[in-house]
Amino acid sequence: MEYWNDGVVGTQFQYSITPSLQSGFMRIIEHISEMQDWSEGERCQGRRIAMVPTMGFLHEGHLSLVREGKKRGDRLVVSIFVNPKQFGPREDFASYPRDFDRDRKLLELEGTDVLFCPTNEEMYPAGNQTYVEVENLSAPLCGGSRPGHFRGVATVVAKLFNIARPHVAVFGCKDYQQLQIIRRMVKDLNLGVEIVGHPIVREADGLAMSSRNAYLSAAEREAALCLSRALRQAETLLKEGETNSSVILERVGREIAREPLVRLEYAHLTDTENLLDLEQVRDSALLALAARIGKTRLIDNIILRR
Ligand code: PAJ
Repeated sequence: MEYWNDGVVGTQFQYSITPSLQSGFMRIIEHISEMQDWSEGERCQGRRIAMVPTMGFLHEGHLSLVREGKKRGDRLVVSIFVNPKQFGPREDFASYPRDFDRDRKLLELEGTDVLFCPTNEEMYPAGNQTYVEVENLSAPLCGGSRPGHFRGVATVVAKLFNIARPHVAVFGCKDYQQLQIIRRMVKDLNLGVEIVGHPIVREADGLAMSSRNAYLSAAEREAALCLSRALRQAETLLKEGETNSSVILERVGREIAREPLVRLEYAHLTDTENLLDLEQVRDSALLALAARIGKTRLIDNIILRR
């Protein structure tokens, strides 16, 4: 694998997989009480539990988190749960891509100890009404266009942590705002889980891997390359000495506007911690993008460093 900036370049093909050679028995757990009992048992024996929460339809981005998780703990739990509470009423919950058998095989090949895959009914029994809201960090960027999304994410991740009781959990920088929200939630609620951020894994041509890439037609996939291209151009501009946000964002907007199939939803240059807009890039900044390509919504980002 190669790197560009803080990201990892994966394989050319969207779903080609390079499993490690190790393969073993993987336990599949559907019930919350069974998952809690298993974790309790492992903890009592002094084992460190690593967790990778996912919504399935796994690609190399997910699998790189799985490999990181393997390194970080004695036991690895991966969850697959397409969380209804993080999808808006007009979003793609029903059509979100799913392939449980394939995911199961991939996770087994990677040496996952437990695949936790609860049902909606078990995660959200009738009468549930408790949510976790990370206020300020949920407002900017995707918070504007996906109201309630991060409340759903924070709630399900808090539940998953209480169920699998990991010592460490790995999340991708691809969803940078989500990563920051989870870090804040863990601090604010004293959840005692170490949060590890893992670099973005990209296709060889730069497209950030995403389960939603499966929605793209060939022409849309080609057009989607303008996102990573725009990020790289911004990086070059900064390296050439341009630190003014509006100049950098104007260049990003122009690059994306050249693709008629792509509609930019937002482009922001923000502080890497609080996600608030910056007028000037000092040491580092997050450049975050969201765009629609046909019916597909994609996000991408880069950490710019001077
Ligand atoms: P999902 O989109 O399945 O992503 C699961 C994890 O994989 C997240 O931490 C995400 O950031 C990471 N990931 C996705 N694409 C990646 C890429 N190209 N490179 C590196 N990491 C990547 O994110 C979610 O699910 C959900 O919101 C979840 C946290 C599971 C809560 O429901």
